[in-house]
Formats: sequence, structure tokens, C-alpha cells
Amino acid sequence: MDGNGRWAAERGLPRREGHRAGAESVRACVEACQELGVKWLTLYAFSSENWKRPATEVEALMLLLDKFLKDKTPELEERGVRLKAIGRLDMLPKRTRRHLEKTIERTADAKGMTLVLALSYGGREEIVDACKRIASQAKSGELEPEEIDNELFSENLYGPDIPDPDLLIRTSGEMRLSNFLLWQVSYSELVIVPKFWPDFDKTDLHDAVAEFTRRHRRFGKV
Ligand code: FPP
Repeated sequence: MDGNGRWAAERGLPRREGHRAGAESVRACVEACQELGVKWLTLYAFSSENWKRPATEVEALMLLLDKFLKDKTPELEERGVRLKAIGRLDMLPKRTRRHLEKTIERTADAKGMTLVLALSYGGREEIVDACKRIASQAKSGELEPEEIDNELFSENLYGPDIPDPDLLIRTSGEMRLSNFLLWQVSYSELVIVPKFWPDFDKTDLHDAVAEFTRRHRRFGKV
């Protein structure tokens, strides 16, 4: 969800206003996914690297997340949206973790779609954490190193039940992955949208999905 800061700067507003506007786009995006029948949506809301931003911006983002979880939980329940989170969640403020756990619990049985928030998330960190888990299973004798394959590795990621994304959308025209789902995006189709995230609307999501349907996916075969 890139470009909140630049969206705010263009308007002479503080960066937190860009994030506030960005939180509004989240709602439109979830609605558009439901219209299209998309079952899984993962949003990169806060990266491992984002902890290095000024403390005031980190605080503003955490407060925004608290507010989103507090205000939107009834709407998520009504719409049948199940919430999940991936990342080093133990690094989040206690208050945010509590809100998160509550919403996850309240929406656990929802059948519509799953919204995954990547929080305090880094793709390399996820791979390192999976390695640690696998190594300790090997050390304790639960696992032989020869048993390690792609499937077993995926099972040790933060969200073993979350399918690899078919489509990765990046806003604000940036053409890089920025440590997002590095293992999982091996065969994802990439769509780069020039708009800043707060300006990304339902039509943009529909357009990105339409572009995806025109791609010919070969998965390395001919
Ligand atoms: C990247 O834009 C965006 C973020 C680091 C935060 C994304 C968070 C939200 C949209 C709001 C909270 C989330 C939810 C799920 C309610 P940037 O700040 O790097 O923008 P820039 O590249 O223009 O500086």
C-alpha cells in the first residue's frame, strides 16, 4: 500500500494524514475483492523496516491500526471477512496485539473471504524464522534433513494455510518487492499501478484483476 506519504506531501499535509486516507482505501479494496469473488487478500500494512521510521509516525500507524480494528470489526463480521495476521507480531504494542487477537477470534468462523494483515512483516525474516523452526525440529530428531522440501518449508511459514498469491499489486509505480512474501511470490503475476495508495479505488482493483486474467501463466513450462 505504497505512496501514502507522497499523497500527503502533494497536499501539504503531514504523513499521518496520508496513512489515514490509506486506511479508507483498505475498505474499498476489501469490498471490491468481495464483488470479484477474491477469497484471499494480503495487505502489507507495516514492514520490519518500518520500525526505523520516526517514533511519531510509527505511533500514528499503530493508533490507526487500533482504530481500524476497533471500528471495523462489526463490519468485517457482517461481511463474513475472516482476519488473519502474519509477521513478528510479538513486536507490536500490547494494545495493538490485544485488538488484533480480539478481531481474529471474533471473525475466525467467517466464510466469505480472508483478509491477512502483514504487520511487522519481512519476507527475509519469515524465511529465517521458518529455518529456525525446521532446524530445531531436525535437532530434536523429529525430522530428517532429507525430508525438507518446498512443501515442508511452506508449512513452516507464518501462515501455512495461506495460498501463494496469484496476483501482486504494487501502488505508486515502484517496481520492487520490498521484502514482501519473498518465498510465496515465485510465480505471482505483478501489476504495478502508478497511483498512490490513497487514490487506489475499486475501479483500479477491477482493472488489475482484468489485466491478470489476460496474462498467460506458464509456471516455467511451455
Ligand atoms: C507505505 O506508504 C504505507 C505504509 C508504511 C503504511 C500502510 C498503512 C495503512 C494504509 C493504514 C493502516 C492499515 C490498515 C490495514 C488499517 P509510505 O508511507 O511508504 O508512502 P511513501 O512511499 O509515499 O512515503
